[in-house]
Amino acid sequence: MSKREKRIEVPAADIQTQREIAKEIAKIHAARSTPPLAFVDTYGCQQNEADSETIRGTLREMGYIFTSSEQEADLIIINTCAVRETAENRVWGNIGALVHTKKAKPEQIIILCGCMAQQESVAKRVETSFRHVDLVFGPHALWRLPELLQRLMTAQGRLIIDISDTDGVIAEDLPQERTEGPAAWLTIMSGCNNFCSFCIVPHVRGRERSRTPERILADVRRLVAEGVKEITLLGQNVNSYGKDLDEPIDFASLLTQINAVEGDFLIRFMTSHPKDATERLFETMASCEKVAKHIHLPLQSGNTRVLAAMNRGYTKEQYLALIAAAKRHMPNIVLTSDIIVGFPGETAAEFADTLDVLEQVQFDALFTFIFSPRSGTPAAELPDPISREEKQIWFDRMLTLQNEISLRRHRAYIGTRQRVLIDGKSDDARYPLKSRTAGGRLVRLTGPDSLIGQFTEVEITDASTWSLTGQL
Ligand code: SAM
Ligand code: SF4
Ligand code: F3S
Repeated sequence: MSKREKRIEVPAADIQTQREIAKEIAKIHAARSTPPLAFVDTYGCQQNEADSETIRGTLREMGYIFTSSEQEADLIIINTCAVRETAENRVWGNIGALVHTKKAKPEQIIILCGCMAQQESVAKRVETSFRHVDLVFGPHALWRLPELLQRLMTAQGRLIIDISDTDGVIAEDLPQERTEGPAAWLTIMSGCNNFCSFCIVPHVRGRERSRTPERILADVRRLVAEGVKEITLLGQNVNSYGKDLDEPIDFASLLTQINAVEGDFLIRFMTSHPKDATERLFETMASCEKVAKHIHLPLQSGNTRVLAAMNRGYTKEQYLALIAAAKRHMPNIVLTSDIIVGFPGETAAEFADTLDVLEQVQFDALFTFIFSPRSGTPAAELPDPISREEKQIWFDRMLTLQNEISLRRHRAYIGTRQRVLIDGKSDDARYPLKSRTAGGRLVRLTGPDSLIGQFTEVEITDASTWSLTGQL
């Protein structure tokens, strides 16, 4: 894999060309009796959700409107995730099922994009076994979607593959159609340079590249003017934001600048890498009133040998010291994390270290995964003597412990007043509204729909492992 030294921004003229192609395609579509229908299916993390907003914006510019029916769609685009095998298998299953929709509607266009699509092995498998797919492109080619669709129009059924770039670029001023609601994603950087030994992301998302603070601040101002109340800054490792810019700036300074934008809104961010998290970041979080007092700080393992084998760049003790510093600056901070169980070669005693960290830190919530070997990553080549059944037993033990901790943490909210953002309706008739605390805890409420999109004060009346219940 190449190591690009400099961040490359797509020239504005090239973006303009794409947007003109999109308008040409829209003219062709305008001649139809009804606008063409597109179905956008998204897997994976928030980064992919944000990319799908760009996909929808671009399709809209090309004259598409959206449907939730694969059967009636003229174009289906599947934005995929490669982080674990289960995520990939779900995608393969769904693409397989599309044979039938395409048979019923032969002119239907089927597109595979996103992280999974960036892998050569995936493009090859589509070529040999999924002949009904028309186009495969990776995250780096997203800005060229209009050109790719134009090529498709003259391809006469031949498969088009665009996964050439491996490092990635910065592409600005792409159309975007935001998902409705008071919360918005805002990508501040793409790619990852960390190469954790288990992780496919750096291989499919390219090198770290930051958007400039000017662009990010302009987006924040626009979102706030549109009435957005919560902005989540996205990057695989936001703590290394800005290192690649001509005028370097760190993430804490970016947070301070965003905090100074006028308006009543909450700033969230993810993900922070422990090796780059600093006391300065915690000080900044504590002093910026708009920044949510919540940090998602993936631990992965609580054992120092396993952490080294994972290439994480910190020890158990360093992680605990970081958490202690965060709690010192923000005594009520909400802490969440990611854990991988059953990394190749992990022993029962090493796994016990992870449980020990969970006991010591008392995370509010965890995202837990059983190790999934990803082809092309070093960890996939390591001997892995522990059986899947044994890993499942460890996993269940961890979940039981964390559920007790989460319940205890949640119960401590009962009787307190919390400021929440009401973000939408729930499926529960008893509590028709969903809201979140600044720490990201789900609070179920009764109240009128007119409150959706507003901050409000609630009293917490009950708590479970997963959520809180509140009264206005
Ligand atoms: N950049 C973030 C970080 O440094 O933690 C996370 C990115 S990754 C998309 C989200 C989570 O997926 C990781 O924190 C890790 O716990 C999990 N993950 C990544 N690769 C995995 C693998 N091969 N098997 C199981 N879980 C994995
Ligand atoms: Fe993957 Fe590690 Fe990069 Fe996170 S920091 S995306 S886990 S390589
Ligand atoms: Fe996200 Fe999955 Fe890609 S977690 S970065 S969509 S591999």
